[in-house]
Amino acid sequence: MADLLAVTDLCAGYGPAMVLHGVSLSVEAGGIGVVLGRNGVGKTTLIRALMGINPAQSGSIALAGRDITRTPPEAIARAGVGLVPQGRRLFPSLTVREHLTVAARPALPGRPGWTIDRVLRLLPRLGERLDHRGAMLSGGEQTMVAIARALVGNPRLMLLDEPTEGLSPAIVHDVTDILRTLRDEGVAILLVEQNLAMAMKLATRVHVLAKGRVAYAGEAAPLRASPALMARLLGV
Ligand SMILES: Nc1ncnc2c1ncn2[C@@H]1O[C@H](COP(=O)(O)OP(=O)(O)OP(=O)(O)O)[C@@H](O)[C@H]1O
Ligand SMILES: [Mg+2]
Repeated sequence: MADLLAVTDLCAGYGPAMVLHGVSLSVEAGGIGVVLGRNGVGKTTLIRALMGINPAQSGSIALAGRDITRTPPEAIARAGVGLVPQGRRLFPSLTVREHLTVAARPALPGRPGWTIDRVLRLLPRLGERLDHRGAMLSGGEQTMVAIARALVGNPRLMLLDEPTEGLSPAIVHDVTDILRTLRDEGVAILLVEQNLAMAMKLATRVHVLAKGRVAYAGEAAPLRASPALMARLLGV
């Protein structure tokens, strides 16, 4: 399948402090790309660079064949990239309904729309929490709101930065099911995860970041089958 996201030799960081030293990776349309890597290796920096929050110093980012390198975050969102940031980043004083209303965006031409009603059918528990404020929600509920908020923006690619951090196994299972459904509905996914078992279940392609570069890119199975490689790249 054609690549929806193609990242080539991406260098990015914080001012003069470079974190990514030439990252290349891709996510195919209809696929789930996973990014693994030890703490502090630059996974969130990569997500921020893809969203245009930390612009690329060099290299390129293409979405559906269109160059989006150094495009501002708002334009990247309009082009069809949704973000579930690390830590969820909800507004404590806004209700669930307000989070969704503020983020809603019409569907891209030719794609079925994710209206708030349709998103609530996928995430029915949120329907019972519409008037609850961000600060009143459990971690699992916050994660569902963050996913719903990204989805009502009608992305063709969703970036998720450790969505299962701090969640119970039952909620991790729910998030896994939701991501599978999204993939089946045609939303491509780039998932940053520390939960190896979950990531390996979903991945169509795995990328391991180390020393600011992609140290492994390929299918999940060979990585899973090599404890030595896993230990070297991930310390597990
Ligand atoms: N705002 C910032 N300014 C300067 N350096 C930063 C900033 N945020 C992160 N860094 C540095 O960039 C490097 C990569 O951080 P990043 O948050 O991308 O790692 P990560 O792989 O997402 O880690 P984790 O698994 O803990 O979320 C780290 O050395 C970190 O200290
Ligand atoms: Mg991070």
